[in-house]
Amino acid sequence: MSADLAKINAAAAALDFVEDGMLLGLGTGSTAAHFVRLLGERVKKGLNVRGVPTSEATDKLARDVGVPIVPVDRVGSLDLAVDGADEVDGAFRLIKGGGAALLREKIIAGAAKHFVVIADESKMVDTLGAFPLPVEVTAFGFTLTAQRIYSALKAHGCHGTEAGLRERDGKPVVTDGGNYIIDCKCAAIPDAEGLADALKRITGVVEHGLFLGMARTVIVGREKGAEVRER
Ligand code: 5RP
Repeated sequence: MSADLAKINAAAAALDFVEDGMLLGLGTGSTAAHFVRLLGERVKKGLNVRGVPTSEATDKLARDVGVPIVPVDRVGSLDLAVDGADEVDGAFRLIKGGGAALLREKIIAGAAKHFVVIADESKMVDTLGAFPLPVEVTAFGFTLTAQRIYSALKAHGCHGTEAGLRERDGKPVVTDGGNYIIDCKCAAIPDAEGLADALKRITGVVEHGLFLGMARTVIVGREKGAEVRER
């Protein structure tokens, strides 16, 4: 199956939630990029919306396709946020951060009245954790922080765990906020809420990629069409 077609179908279905005059959170990643491009086409046809991007990459794309941008520090709340995900379970719990944008994504999704997730069906899972959980940490002391993350993973039933620095071309990946990413290979996360709480308590952890209780709508994209699921 074509994952890209499925992503496009999910993104296209999300346009049904967009209304004239809305302030929109614009996600990051390939699926969210499809949404931004489709949104740009609607704007060219007269749709009046403004967007708050969740990354520098999305900011650039939105400007390129003609979606008006509002700086995040000028907004109170958002009407709708649309973003992709790396994993989605049956309770609409997510792993995000594969694109290293999880901090801004979580701030924007949390400020939106309605958070819609768009994902191709390969992202749907019974149990979170096959996708390595990204955790954003300060660059200072990241090896110490990674050790504490590893202990938290073990304490919350994640077996076969590794907590490793994300690198590209032999260098640490640096987020838009200037931080590093620790990718946690858990295989399965049996207690997502407990782990989320534990990670938040570690000094040096800026944010983690577990998005719990945030998504209200999940749009599952398939090669032929998309299914809208509501919580
Ligand atoms: C970026 C994200 C993305 O939404 C996630 O990685 C999914 O990406 P894609 O749509 O390319 O599969 O969380 O930080």
